[in-house]
Amino acid sequence: MDFDFTRLPPQDRYRLLTNFVGPRPIALVTTRSQAGHANAAPMSFFNVFSQDPAIVILGIQKRGDGNEKDTLVNIRRTQEFCVNMVDMEIADAMILCGINFAPDVDEPSFAGLATAPCRQIDATYLERTPCAMECRVERIIDFPNRAIILGEVVEMTVRDDCLDPQGRYVNPDVYQPIARLHADSYIVADRQFELLKPEGAAALEAAQLTPPKESGK
Ligand SMILES: Cc1cc2nc3c(=O)[nH]c(=O)nc-3n(C[C@H](O)[C@H](O)[C@H](O)COP(=O)(O)O)c2cc1C
Repeated sequence: MDFDFTRLPPQDRYRLLTNFVGPRPIALVTTRSQAGHANAAPMSFFNVFSQDPAIVILGIQKRGDGNEKDTLVNIRRTQEFCVNMVDMEIADAMILCGINFAPDVDEPSFAGLATAPCRQIDATYLERTPCAMECRVERIIDFPNRAIILGEVVEMTVRDDCLDPQGRYVNPDVYQPIARLHADSYIVADRQFELLKPEGAAALEAAQLTPPKESGK
């Protein structure tokens, strides 16, 4: 089967793209509403793209009625947001936060998620998230129906049991994020494996990087 994306209606593009580009990690994005309470919404058009600067990207679609989602309204106003990674412990609460509530609903409280103040931005993070990333907006790219938000991570707060004692590598028995597959299907990273370069790969790479010797003529 072949699909000409230049002719395909957006909803078909969405279905095909999200069915095949997955699993997609889920950012449970917390922001501060204009009235001062916490807002939370899951976003799976999300990933990290750079460490210098540390950039994460969100894609936020307008609602069916053409209005912007509360998360985007809050991000535009405050220029700040927090990405909370999601594991099985908070998966059910994450789905509740995805309900299209009115702007004055505090989704973390509704979903039973305890929050704590962020350190560098004026928002709250979810206490039981494995990892919270406080972000400041680097830029927003606007399309007619979608905004793509580049956020610079300024602080990361990690649940202690998710990391080794040196704070370097995740503990894979504990940190098992969930990710979105297609439609309402999700996957949990509980079957991890290592894939090592074959023996001799380093020598092969080094040989190719060595400039050829001068002929001496
Ligand atoms: C797992 C999951 C992933 C989602 N990913 C996105 C996304 O990437 N972009 C988007 O605009 N909406 C996404 N949604 C829908 C929003 O979470 C939903 O519209 C929510 O009500 C927005 O809340 P807000 O108005 O408080 O921002 C997702 C929903 C779920 C359950």
